[in-house]
Amino acid sequence: MNTLKNKVAIITGANSGIGLATAKLYLKEGAKVVLAARRKEALDTVAKDLDGTFITVVADVSKPEDNVNLIKEATNAYGNIDILFLNAGIAPISPTTDITETHYDEIFNINVKGPILAVKEALPHINDGGSILFTSSIVSQKGFDGLGVYSASKGAIRSYARVLTSEVKSRSIRVNSIAPGPISTPLYGKMGLPQDVVEDMGKGFAQQVPLGRFGTSEEVAKTALFLASDDASYINGIELEVDGGLSQI
Ligand SMILES: NC(=O)c1ccc[n+]([C@@H]2O[C@H](COP(=O)([O-])OP(=O)(O)OC[C@H]3O[C@@H](n4cnc5c(N)ncnc54)[C@H](OP(=O)(O)O)[C@@H]3O)[C@@H](O)[C@H]2O)c1
Repeated sequence: MNTLKNKVAIITGANSGIGLATAKLYLKEGAKVVLAARRKEALDTVAKDLDGTFITVVADVSKPEDNVNLIKEATNAYGNIDILFLNAGIAPISPTTDITETHYDEIFNINVKGPILAVKEALPHINDGGSILFTSSIVSQKGFDGLGVYSASKGAIRSYARVLTSEVKSRSIRVNSIAPGPISTPLYGKMGLPQDVVEDMGKGFAQQVPLGRFGTSEEVAKTALFLASDDASYINGIELEVDGGLSQI
C-alpha cells in the first residue's frame, strides 16, 4: 500500500487506458499524482472515481506552453517531482503510400516532441534519485503494416531515452521505458478505422502473442509501479516489454 508513499508523480495520458490504470495504482500506493491529458471532460469524469491525493491538469503535450504549464501546476501543488511518466500517445494508421505531412507531424509532435519538451521542463524540478518513464512500444522491434510513422516515433523516443539515461546520471535519476504489446485500451478505437477492421486486427494481434491474448492496462500499470519504485533501484536505461512474449519470438 505504501510503495510510493509521499512520492510526487506526473502521468501524461492519464484519463484513459494505461495512464489511468497507472494513476489508480500509484494513488493506491500512496503517491501524490498529477493526472494530465488533453480532454478536460474525460479527466473530470475519471477524477470522480479516484481516491487519494491528486490534481488534474489539461495539457496537450504537443504544445510547448502546455508542458511549461503542466510542470508549473504540478510543482505549485506538490513541490518537487519524483516520478515523471511520459505515457500520452496516439497511433493512427496509414500505409506509406497514403502518409501525409499532417499524419507525420501529428504523431511526432505528440509521441516524440511532447515527451522530450516535458522532460526539459521537468528536469530542474525532479529530485535526485527520481525516476523518468516513457511508454514506447514493441512496434519499434517488429514491423506491422500501416504503423510506419507510429513505429518510427516509438523508436525515436526509445533512442532519446538512452541519451537521457546518460545525461542525468550525475543526479542518479533512473530512466526506463515500457514497451507494451497489444493492450486492451481505447487506443484502437482512435485509429481512424471501422470497428470491424479494428476487431479483425485485434484477433490477428492476439494470435501472434505467445500468451494468446491482449494484455490489460493494469498489467502495464504494475510494470510502471515496479520501474518507478525502489524495487527497481538498479534498473536503468532499459526498455521492458510487456507483451505476452510477442517481441521475443
Ligand atoms: N494499447 C496498446 O496496445 C499500446 C501498445 C503499445 C504502446 N502503447 C502506448 O501506450 C500509451 C498509452 O496508450 P493507451 O493504449 O493507454 O491509449 P489511450 O487509452 O488512447 O490513452 C492515450 C492517452 O494519451 C492522451 N493523449 C493523446 N494525445 C495527447 C496530447 N496531444 N496531449 C496530451 N495527452 C494526449 C489521451 O488523452 P486525450 O484522450 O484526452 O487526448 C489518453 O489519455 C501510448 O503512448 C501508446 O502509444 C499502447
